[in-house]
Amino acid sequence: IKNLLSAGDLDRADAIQVLDTAEELLGIASRPIKKLPTLRGRTVVNLFFEDSTRTRISFEAAAKRLSADVINFSAKGSSVSKGESLKDTALTLQAMGADAVIIRHPSSGAPHRLAEARWTQGAVINAGDGTHEHPTQALLDAFTMRRHLAADGDGSLKGKNVTIVGDVLHSRVVRSNVLLLDTLGANVTIVAPPTLLPVGVDRWPVTTSYDLDASLEGADAVMMLRVQAERMNASYFPSAREYSRRYGLDTARMNRLPDHAIVMHPGPMNRGMEITADVADHDRSVIVEQVTNGVAVRMAVLYLLLGGAADGSSDELSSDK
Ligand code: CP
Repeated sequence: IKNLLSAGDLDRADAIQVLDTAEELLGIASRPIKKLPTLRGRTVVNLFFEDSTRTRISFEAAAKRLSADVINFSAKGSSVSKGESLKDTALTLQAMGADAVIIRHPSSGAPHRLAEARWTQGAVINAGDGTHEHPTQALLDAFTMRRHLAADGDGSLKGKNVTIVGDVLHSRVVRSNVLLLDTLGANVTIVAPPTLLPVGVDRWPVTTSYDLDASLEGADAVMMLRVQAERMNASYFPSAREYSRRYGLDTARMNRLPDHAIVMHPGPMNRGMEITADVADHDRSVIVEQVTNGVAVRMAVLYLLLGGAADGSSDELSSDK
């Protein structure tokens, strides 16, 4: 594939190839003693129209660990504040050379527009668009689940039970996770208050529930979603206290999970709302590990989309001599 716009762009073989490649790269992602020369001479543009900590920094780290040059663009402080369009911003960055454009945008579909209109010649990677999708988050989540739950399997998550809880309505993370987990054979249960479930969720390949307590038994992984206050209309939302009482993960609920089950959150977290601090910091929480795994997965995506150095000298995942 040329671009990564949706988790649905990946068939099972593609997804497993990304996860297997990330497995090879994890050592360098987590302990970057040496860079790989793999993308030497390539330019990666981080085009962020919305705030980010994990995604932007991990894409930058991933590109640099593969020896690519990185241009960071943030809408804040740019000519976007003077009214410059996505098209003109993209054309300006393309004029400086871009082999890949990693875009986060508040509008659902902006990465698709960038790719389809050919405002860049580089590969387009969706780093989160509105409430639509966040495919590399789903890949790093699947990678993390696979390391904990399916070490001896066929590389998929066949038969694993994943419970995803919270503000589904506004979550691009859940949409990409549902697509990828379905591709990898997992069983997904979505738990949310009725007002935070989107229209059409009945057509998703998931089971839905309003009852968190009834949905924890048998879960191999439970993924808590951030309550997205910045996208919230008051009418959607029960009070914060009511929300955390009914849909928050606290120690009592965590203790009802099977012993092997892991606790996940894409971040950033609202501690005390969807997850208590005790659970977030517990041994069963893999939230910090998800961030490390994100660097490896993003290295794998860049490597597989860009396919080697500009001069063709180093298209293998070998370390620099
Ligand atoms: N999970 C995630 O996308 O985090 P950031 O918004 O910090 O990138």
